[in-house]
Amino acid sequence: MSIMHIALLCSGGDAPGMNCAIRAVVRTALFNGLQVTGIKRGYAGLLKGEFHPMNLSSVGNIIQRGGTILQTSRSPEFMKPEGRIKAVEILRAQGINALIVIGGDGSFNGAKALWDEHQFPVVGIPGTIDNDISGTEYTIGFETAVETAIEAVDRIRDTAHSHARTFLVEVMGRNSSAIALKVGVCTGAENVLLPHDKVNHQKIVDDIQRGMARGKESSIIIVAEGPVAGRSYEIQKVLKEKYKLDAHVAILGHIQRGGSPMADDRFIASQMGHLAVQTIMEKNYPTVTVVKNGKVTLATLEDCTQKADYNFIEFQKLAQTLSI
Ligand code: F6P
Repeated sequence: MSIMHIALLCSGGDAPGMNCAIRAVVRTALFNGLQVTGIKRGYAGLLKGEFHPMNLSSVGNIIQRGGTILQTSRSPEFMKPEGRIKAVEILRAQGINALIVIGGDGSFNGAKALWDEHQFPVVGIPGTIDNDISGTEYTIGFETAVETAIEAVDRIRDTAHSHARTFLVEVMGRNSSAIALKVGVCTGAENVLLPHDKVNHQKIVDDIQRGMARGKESSIIIVAEGPVAGRSYEIQKVLKEKYKLDAHVAILGHIQRGGSPMADDRFIASQMGHLAVQTIMEKNYPTVTVVKNGKVTLATLEDCTQKADYNFIEFQKLAQTLSI
């Protein structure tokens, strides 16, 4: 019987801890006598045949590194059925029996199409700083991104207090409230604006003035990036022109996606990479490694293809209550 041959790729935005998942996949595969190939630059690289055989040293000294050694991309070509026909032909020509995809809900939708249209075995590992995939309580990278943002906001608070200033601090989250809410609660922000919130400028001003009336020296408003990064500048303009309130803007941007993964991200990614390979050996696909009730386990791929902002939305009330 021929040796089982698995491939893996990262897709969508990178996230700290992806390298830990890659390492765990490669080492578990090799431990079990499987052949393993890394595909560079996600689905786009797959279509270009960017295949690299992986051995123990390909994943040496990467556990502490942010980003992804396989690199990543978003591929419009793969989103079309013809692109996926080509992808499956390429995978089969390489003798690959199964594909592991590390990414977000968009990447999982691509994997699901490979299974639905071609019955190509796929297993997903959730990796995105947004923590917004259905079917899992956690996605690799979230805690590290939150920690990075908290550190930045704490520094901004120092200078905001010294100068008695208001800051709008914009964090990532095109459609996800998770980073904004957790950072807002953990930094004692005076206000948290979610990605699709219609901005209530009057409320922002009232909240700040109420704080000032009881001697507060600084205000931090956490703004989730929303569909277009930089929305804080528009809010700043309205606050100035309509309410004569000066606010400074700090956009944290991609600094939140880089950096060395924290222990939780390393630990969960290691468990997920290990489980993904075991799952393939047991021919249990299409599945996704998820966190449920705090434990790493499996869900069906079908359950993990939606964007889910509900994991964190329950903390909106907490953020509001603690910021009075
Ligand atoms: O990785 C998720 C995410 O960081 C979103 O929160 C953000 O809106 C988006 O990616 C920006 O990504 P890019 O720079 O790749 O367009």
